[in-house]
Amino acid sequence: MPRKSFDEVLKYTEYALDIISKKSLEDGEKEQFIKETRHNFDNHINPGFLEYRKAAGADDMAMEWMSKGDTFTDLNGKEYIDCLGGFGAFNCGHRNDTVVTAVMNQLAKQPLSSAELVDANRSLLARILADVTPGDLQYTFFTSSGTESIECGLKMATLATGRHYYVAFKNDFHGKTMGSLSLTSKEHFRGPFLPLLQGARFAPYGDVEYLEKMLDVLDFVGELPAAIVYEPIQGEGGVIVPPDDFIPAIRRLCDKYDIMMVADEVQAGMARTGYLFATDYYDLAPDILCLGKSISGSVVPLSACVCTERAFRGMFPDPLLHSTTTGGNPLATAAGIAAFNVILKEDLCGKARKGEKMFKDGMAVLMKKYPKLLTDFRGRGLFLAMEFCDGDIGYEVVYEAFNRRLLLSGSLINARTIRIEPPLNITEEHIKEAIDILDTSMGIVYKKHWGK
Ligand SMILES: Cc1ncc(COP(=O)(O)O)c(C=O)c1O
Repeated sequence: MPRKSFDEVLKYTEYALDIISKKSLEDGEKEQFIKETRHNFDNHINPGFLEYRKAAGADDMAMEWMSKGDTFTDLNGKEYIDCLGGFGAFNCGHRNDTVVTAVMNQLAKQPLSSAELVDANRSLLARILADVTPGDLQYTFFTSSGTESIECGLKMATLATGRHYYVAFKNDFHGKTMGSLSLTSKEHFRGPFLPLLQGARFAPYGDVEYLEKMLDVLDFVGELPAAIVYEPIQGEGGVIVPPDDFIPAIRRLCDKYDIMMVADEVQAGMARTGYLFATDYYDLAPDILCLGKSISGSVVPLSACVCTERAFRGMFPDPLLHSTTTGGNPLATAAGIAAFNVILKEDLCGKARKGEKMFKDGMAVLMKKYPKLLTDFRGRGLFLAMEFCDGDIGYEVVYEAFNRRLLLSGSLINARTIRIEPPLNITEEHIKEAIDILDTSMGIVYKKHWGK
């Protein structure tokens, strides 16, 4: 592409800033903007992207424009109930007032830190995390994305143990940067980039006996891992809840072999399961807790790797041994502080449990009504999934629901599973409406395939 003159680029930034400054667009302007966005996606983001999004359910191009609470509104003014919740990023709801106020207040002072003076917000949030997390979790390294929090967890585990091997589980998803990708299980994502971290090994999720035998052998051959990295509930794998003895067995085996127990709660944490942290379901604590997505209060990106003193002390002699310029910046940590305020004040754990009951009651009825279509329904809190008889049929239901203004999502690893992960403060009316829309959508798909 020919390089444009600075004057032309300047004009284009002015056009873009003008659009950003507006709350709504005139009809002609809207059409032009949609055309412009389509062109830019095809030529400057990825030509496959809009095709992929359309296949996920859109009849025409629905462009994000505004959001509030448990809904968002596209550029054409259509309002959708958000039961996807940004794959776990919107636990506090869209533009929560408390979070927005904290962010605006900080924005009016200083959004990013000098990286030289002492920035207070980071220390306030680290203190809150030490107070609110289980066990002896005490020190926090802040990052900006979930995958970075996993990278940090792997490095801390290696520093603490002097080992270079890691264990994760089949169907796990831990992110897509080289280190976390090494522990993300699906060949589709790993294959093109192999070899990744040489010391990554996988065990079946939920199988205590297998894990015991695996560690016994690794101990024997002198290749014990630095960390066992687990999702308390597998998200992208299809909302798989492990048997009750599995997570306690990981704790027991980590203690036995001096391995760092690393909880990946990037998706399951921050009240999503009806517990503040998903591992709180059990009476135990990990050595390293990775958080992301909703720790930002659903406004500014933020993630965190919270460690025990034992897991973190390798960082004491040189605090810059692992670092990032923007991780834990004043704006993001202001949002994180507000996120805990909202979760505790609005009792989002209680709301997640109440919502779980309403959805599960509704799904029990739908499973009876459409037995060949909907084969399972599971999860904890508002970390829920419907399992369909096959992946294509699941997507047909998502498509019908989207056309009725209900947003749902598939999962990256398991195509038959459709997740329900709304903001935790979704209203009861919207839960009822979502179940009604699912009923209608399943009815249409059922009739198409089974003729009744
Ligand atoms: C359990 C889990 N870990 C890590 C990640 C990676 O987070 P991010 O996409 O913010 O890098 C995800 C993202 O979906 C996740 O679900």
